[in-house]
Amino acid sequence: MLTTLGLAVFVVYATIRSFVRTAYWVEEYHYLTPFYSPCVSASCVPGARHFGTWVGELPMWIPLAFLSLPFLLGFRLTCYYYRKAYYRSIWLAPPACAVAEPHARYTGETRLPLLIQNSHRYFFYVALVISAINTYDAIVAFHGSGGGFGFGLGNLILVGNVLLLWAYTVSCHSCRHVTGGRLKHFSKHPLRYRIWTAVSRLNTRHMQLAWTTLGTLMITDFYIMLVASGTISDLRFVG
Ligand code: FES
Repeated sequence: MLTTLGLAVFVVYATIRSFVRTAYWVEEYHYLTPFYSPCVSASCVPGARHFGTWVGELPMWIPLAFLSLPFLLGFRLTCYYYRKAYYRSIWLAPPACAVAEPHARYTGETRLPLLIQNSHRYFFYVALVISAINTYDAIVAFHGSGGGFGFGLGNLILVGNVLLLWAYTVSCHSCRHVTGGRLKHFSKHPLRYRIWTAVSRLNTRHMQLAWTTLGTLMITDFYIMLVASGTISDLRFVG
């Protein structure tokens, strides 16, 4: 029940926020919420278009981050940890080891729709690009109200979120396979072995990182929404 509730809270929050189109950009400090990045349409406020304007005005039913959201959703939905969680808690296939499941036949991930789970590695490649975009957004946000360098609580939140997103992405099981999979002799590939060892270490924390990043994404968006709407002002250290 907790797993279901946790995922439901995130899905509801992210869906509402992705469509409201308000309070996603703080002009003064160049804070852009990750739920609206990259913002590449004419519907985005000009300052938030870090990568230019690729398309014209979007109808209200298309989220401004239409380029990243489907892939991020696909990345999370097909994640090995979330699979385990929702197969057990929601789909009951199987509910646990040695517990009979309510479905008549078990076909695993060999048929549609669960066959789609095999696309996870491709979502992983796109997630790497999106993490790089979020990193760029976090760097651009070191902006003072009068121009030049600035630094506030929003920067700490943005940078903390992006670091954890990298940790979650790199700890992915597909990343383990990309770095060290299909090798017969680790001794012949010392660099890949080192990287694989580091990724494997992080991989043991994948579940914690999956939950933590759901939380940090919501906190980052919520904080930027409060500052952008003028509900609170950013705590500034410099600029
Ligand atoms: Fe969770 Fe790849 S296994 S993101």
